[in-house]
Amino acid sequence: MSGTGLRLPLVALCLLIAGVLADHQRPFRVHPNSIRYNVNNNRPIIGILSQEPSKTMASVSPESVSYIAASYVKWLEGQGARVVPIKVNQPDSYYKTVFDSINGLLIPGGGASLVSSGYGKAGSILYDLAIEANDNGDFFPVWGTCLGFELLLYLSAGKRDFLTTCNSYNRASSLKFLSDASVSRLYQRAPNDVLKTLSKEKSTSNFHHWCMTKENLTASSLDNFYRPLATSTDDDGLEFVATIEAISYPFWGVQFHPEKNVYEWGANLTSVPHWPSAIKAGQYFAEFFVNQARKSQHRFASRQEEATYLIYNYAPVYTGNVSSSFLQSYFFN
Ligand SMILES: *[C@@H]1O[C@H](CO)[C@@H](O)[C@H](O)[C@H]1NC(C)=O
Ligand SMILES: *[C@@H]1O[C@H](CO)[C@@H](O)[C@H](O)[C@H]1NC(C)=O
Ligand SMILES: *[C@@H]1O[C@H](CO)[C@@H](O)[C@H](O)[C@H]1NC(C)=O
Repeated sequence: MSGTGLRLPLVALCLLIAGVLADHQRPFRVHPNSIRYNVNNNRPIIGILSQEPSKTMASVSPESVSYIAASYVKWLEGQGARVVPIKVNQPDSYYKTVFDSINGLLIPGGGASLVSSGYGKAGSILYDLAIEANDNGDFFPVWGTCLGFELLLYLSAGKRDFLTTCNSYNRASSLKFLSDASVSRLYQRAPNDVLKTLSKEKSTSNFHHWCMTKENLTASSLDNFYRPLATSTDDDGLEFVATIEAISYPFWGVQFHPEKNVYEWGANLTSVPHWPSAIKAGQYFAEFFVNQARKSQHRFASRQEEATYLIYNYAPVYTGNVSSSFLQSYFFN
């Protein structure tokens, strides 16, 4: 009896110490539901979907078919990932090869059609591959930012659109965390100072004219697939969903742009929060996602093949003179 009495406080003390250590070091986030996937892959490679450039963007690279803003690349590279650009309008076999070789997918923001663009079509193929892989126990994380968030919602709704117009362009906002945030994989173990920044400071970068409301997440039954974790409010007081986490898949989406805080300085981007706590908050999302990608065991057939796909085969070009959104961009023919 006394032995048990002694052990319990010791166990409690160890847990306390582990908790304190975890708070400061936390080298690898493990969600209870994903322990079976906890295999550290310390060479994570993340695919970023490219999209058709606007006319002004194309003026810098007239031959190009698609582009990726360099801020997304740097955002992932800053957490120890390498990037493979994913081209548009390619045969299915290309997407299958790339998918089987990368450890996660980032669907970035931008201005392409969800329905008819090469971005929308490639996104749909990759989304189906991600669903199939995860259903088969092959852990594969997907992240959508802004337009990528909207594409995830569109695809998960069976290619139906439940967005409504709103006013949140060139606006910094804060997050209102919903009750599910505290049990989510994304926010549950986020550092307290990051959560405080996100909820108390206008630290998220918003550049969108379309919004998903909580009402429509329910009306569309998308709430069976995604939990809304946080909302923000637009210029007219409309509350919109700002973060989603898929209930049964490692899929996340944010309506805001965490990569802009640290990497975008366009002269017209007057709203982007560049102060230290906002930078740290923006980088938290990349840290989380790259650590998810570390659980995927996909890889290229060889290091030689890997080298031919990596983004280092391309050089970023200065686009700050033609686009207020992107200082540097990668172009693909
Ligand atoms: C819900 O989605 C529909 C499109 O299916 C849209 O017309 C409507 O404005 C949306 N309503 C809200 C409250 O978001
Ligand atoms: C913008 O800068 C790029 C890269 O230096 C250059 O190729 C392009 O001609 C410039 N465009 C304009 C309109 O100044
Ligand atoms: C910035 O805004 C000004 C005024 O609206 C506009 O004339 C200019 O083209 C914009 N610059 C870029 C790079 O988009």
